[in-house]
Amino acid sequence: MKVRVSSFAVSLDGFGAGPSQNLQNPLGVNGPELMEWFFSTRAWRRMHGLDGGETGVDHRMAEEGLSGIGAWILGRNMFGPVRGPWPDESWKGWWGEEPPYHVPAFVLTHHARASIQMKGGTRFIFVTGGIHEALARAREVAGDSDVRIGGGVSTIRQFLRAGLIDEMTLALRPVVLGEGEALFAALDLRALGYECIRHVAGERAVHVTLGRVASARSAST
Ligand SMILES: NC(=O)c1ccc[n+]([C@@H]2O[C@H](COP(=O)([O-])OP(=O)(O)OC[C@H]3O[C@@H](n4cnc5c(N)ncnc54)[C@H](OP(=O)(O)O)[C@@H]3O)[C@@H](O)[C@H]2O)c1
Repeated sequence: MKVRVSSFAVSLDGFGAGPSQNLQNPLGVNGPELMEWFFSTRAWRRMHGLDGGETGVDHRMAEEGLSGIGAWILGRNMFGPVRGPWPDESWKGWWGEEPPYHVPAFVLTHHARASIQMKGGTRFIFVTGGIHEALARAREVAGDSDVRIGGGVSTIRQFLRAGLIDEMTLALRPVVLGEGEALFAALDLRALGYECIRHVAGERAVHVTLGRVASARSAST
């Protein structure tokens, strides 16, 4: 069982989302440029009920990222554009009636809300107790399967800082965003015990996996 980040797209200048996220710009301004490696893959098309798609390296990395997951953890901004107290129960995520998770997805928020059961097995569970509570609950339901930290940036940064991520695979995109949500700002990944353990060039992104070196792992357990 691993706690991992997979297929998280980052611009060359280190942004995982553009600025000014809102209903029209879920990934922030220019954010879709981060995801262009994914849109052409068979994995993405299948998730959206479509045939065809490319089956190269990008596809294989997307598939790898989606397999073996028993629970997800998402930040509230990844779940949607609503900020502050929930005005009502109407927002149920960006993904329609049947989201692509198919397992429990724990959503970090400061604003309590009842869980939502979606079609296809996804259950959104809102957690107000922080990352440790979210991870404990995710581990419990995931069993032997992995817990995937889906994002966004603020959520991944907290888990990295706490030394809770075993492996993180980034899809490094050959684009610059200039501004947005910075994944690495003031984070010393080396001091946190991470090193690059794999890199593979895909069609539209380079996939880079960071793992924790043994000494760091044993120091935190
Ligand atoms: N590059 C990629 O592959 C990728 C993947 C996924 C998402 N994204 C993008 O990333 C962006 C979202 O990232 P983000 O950094 O803005 O936000 P985020 O990590 O998705 O969510 C941050 C929000 O979650 C809640 N939260 C986080 N940690 C918490 C804690 N410990 N306790 C309680 N609540 C907590 C807070 O919301 P409240 O205080 O309001 O409740 C906080 O403002 C979106 O644009 C999304 O599309 C990119």
